[in-house]
Amino acid sequence: MESSAPGKVILCGEHSVVYGQPAIAVPVTGLRCRARVEPAMPGSGLLLVAADLNQRTSLRNTAPEHPLGALARLVLEHLHCGEPDAVLTIHSDLPIAAGLGSGAAVSVAAARALAGFLGQPLSEEVVSALAYEVEKLHHGTPSGIDNTVIAWERPVFFVKGQAPEVLAISAPLRLLVADSGFPAATREAVTGVRQRRESDPDFYAARFSQIGALVKLARTALEQQDFAALGRLMDANHALLVEIGVSTPRLDTLVLAARKAGALGAKLTGSGMGGNILALVPMEGAPVVVEALYAAGAVHVWQTVTE
Ligand code: MEV
Repeated sequence: MESSAPGKVILCGEHSVVYGQPAIAVPVTGLRCRARVEPAMPGSGLLLVAADLNQRTSLRNTAPEHPLGALARLVLEHLHCGEPDAVLTIHSDLPIAAGLGSGAAVSVAAARALAGFLGQPLSEEVVSALAYEVEKLHHGTPSGIDNTVIAWERPVFFVKGQAPEVLAISAPLRLLVADSGFPAATREAVTGVRQRRESDPDFYAARFSQIGALVKLARTALEQQDFAALGRLMDANHALLVEIGVSTPRLDTLVLAARKAGALGAKLTGSGMGGNILALVPMEGAPVVVEALYAAGAVHVWQTVTE
């Protein structure tokens, strides 16, 4: 039984989404995590294999906070199944700690493959909810946007605690994702925002509601295929992310390089403090922006088109 799940990027609204504001995220379908479950010898139990990390462990020996072990236990509990004699193997194209949702993609792919192996396929809602429980182990207080966009594999307008709204995109949305080469420490970035917010609640409330307002405008721009407006809103979102302290000089340099080379808009994406930037590019302009991003120090640039 095989299953896979995509990566994700946040188009706008990261961080403020943790405090109840909306955000928009899109799947990165070309970067995927794949999970396979195969039968094993009777009595062997469930073996978990993270092939890219060269890690093998049996479910029985995993600590409660081991992400893949926790996910497998959640799935078995949800399905009222005992531990099967099987091998669950994960392969992922997704860079770890890059803000591209690799943890949630592992959970979603693994939950689907394991449930499929047990003959009880899971709905998007359930897969997302199970992956959210594991996200809490990784990140402490996640909004749930990563597991949601990855489980639905569609662009989503997301508000914490509410059913996601799947967005219809009628013209291709061309995005470049450029890796700064520094890991994105999601838990630390989210905790840092929380601590600064506690010492200056009014400043943070104002920035969060400005981001929430621009996310709503971005939704309209997206639905009307007004990519020039969407790009300007991404720029404005980046400026607000700088104000809440989650950008870095390297991320700012990449954002500026993308804009100068003709991107319609650019911003950091995900938790910041490292990780990736996102640039919205016009149909013909991508190669020039890709070149400019490498020249400005990006260690990898991916192109993704959402249709
Ligand atoms: C991480 O992909 C996005 C953040 O907003 C955290 C979250 O929503 O859980 C930084």
